[in-house]
Amino acid sequence: MVVGFTYWLSTTEEHAGGGEGSHSEQSEEGGDSAGGEAEQIFAQNCASCHGENLGGGAGPALEAVGGTYSKDEILDIIKNGKGGGMPAGLIEGKEAELVATWLAEKK
Ligand code: HEC
Repeated sequence: MVVGFTYWLSTTEEHAGGGEGSHSEQSEEGGDSAGGEAEQIFAQNCASCHGENLGGGAGPALEAVGGTYSKDEILDIIKNGKGGGMPAGLIEGKEAELVATWLAEKK
């Protein structure tokens, strides 16, 4: 049963990959890929506290955080943490840059 199901999955994927290969490449390089990547990083590292839709939870809502902080200030919070609850250094380098840029646009 399990083997059959796995086989079904892999043949389906092969089929889709063969026919739609160029499509999936296109969507990766699509216009909003920077935002999409930042959103993904946020979902994996930040959403547990700040909410999937930036609505907040254990941490404050970040829906309008760009109105309070500049990109550099957000980058600083990501690097150094904030107050008692915001952990420092969850993401670094390019990932931190992407997320800070994306959040700074939330006004
Ligand atoms: C463990 C829970 C937790 C995680 C994970 C977390 N945060 Fe936070 N964050 C907080 C808390 C709590 C605060 C409020 C800190 C304070 O003001 O004392 C905060 C504050 C912030 C602030 C400032 C908001 C404001 O209005 O002052 C920003 C920006 C922020 N977090 C971004 C992020 C980003 C980006 C990530 C992912 C890399 C992240 N946080 C992950 C808990 C978390």
